[in-house]
Amino acid sequence: MNARITLNVDKEQRTLTVDTRTTVLDALREQLGITSPKKGCDHGQCGACTLLIDGRRVLSCLSLAVANDGAEITTAQGLVEDEQLHPVQQAFLDQDAFQCGYCTPGQICSVIGMLDEASSGHPSHATSDVAGGVGSPASLDDDEIRERMSGNLCRCGAYVNIVAAIRQVVDESDTPSTQATEGYAS
Ligand code: FES
Ligand code: FES
Repeated sequence: MNARITLNVDKEQRTLTVDTRTTVLDALREQLGITSPKKGCDHGQCGACTLLIDGRRVLSCLSLAVANDGAEITTAQGLVEDEQLHPVQQAFLDQDAFQCGYCTPGQICSVIGMLDEASSGHPSHATSDVAGGVGSPASLDDDEIRERMSGNLCRCGAYVNIVAAIRQVVDESDTPSTQATEGYAS
C-alpha cells in the first residue's frame, strides 16, 4: 500500500509517495537523493543512519516514513547555515575527529541529539544520580560522553578524538561569545 506524505528535510518541504513499509532512511536516500545518512547495518545497530527528527536523534533505518509525515528532519548535510559549519562539525574538524564518510554524519547528528538530551536532564547508564538526571552538557564527564555515543559504531576503531571534539563544543557553549549553545540545541 502506498501513502502520500510530506517530510521537511533540511528546511525544505518534500512531498513523496512511499510504500508504507519504507523507512525514513530509504525514503531520503532512494527517493529524495539525500545521501548524508548512511545505511550501515539496516538493523539499528551501527548508528550510521542517525539523524534528527523534530530535534531528537533517531535511527532512521528503524523509523517508518509514514510515521513521520509532517516531521522536521535534519541531516548532517543540512547543518551548514550560510556556509558556516555547525559548531559540532567545526569541533570535529578542529580536533581531527572526523572519521570516514560512512559513520561521521551519524556521529555528528548523534552528538547534537545527545547534548540536547543532557540539557533536558535525561540520564544514561553512566549517570550516578539517575533520579537527578544530568541537567546540562557541562556536567557530562568522559564516561557519560562515551556511554551516550555508544550507539554509533565504527568498524575501524578510530574514535579517539570524538570525545575531545564534544568537549570542545561543551566548553564553547559555556562561553557567551560563541554560538555553540544555539547550534546544538536547535
Ligand atoms: S543503518 Fe541504522 S543503525 Fe545501522
Ligand atoms: S566506519 Fe567510519 S571510520 Fe570506521
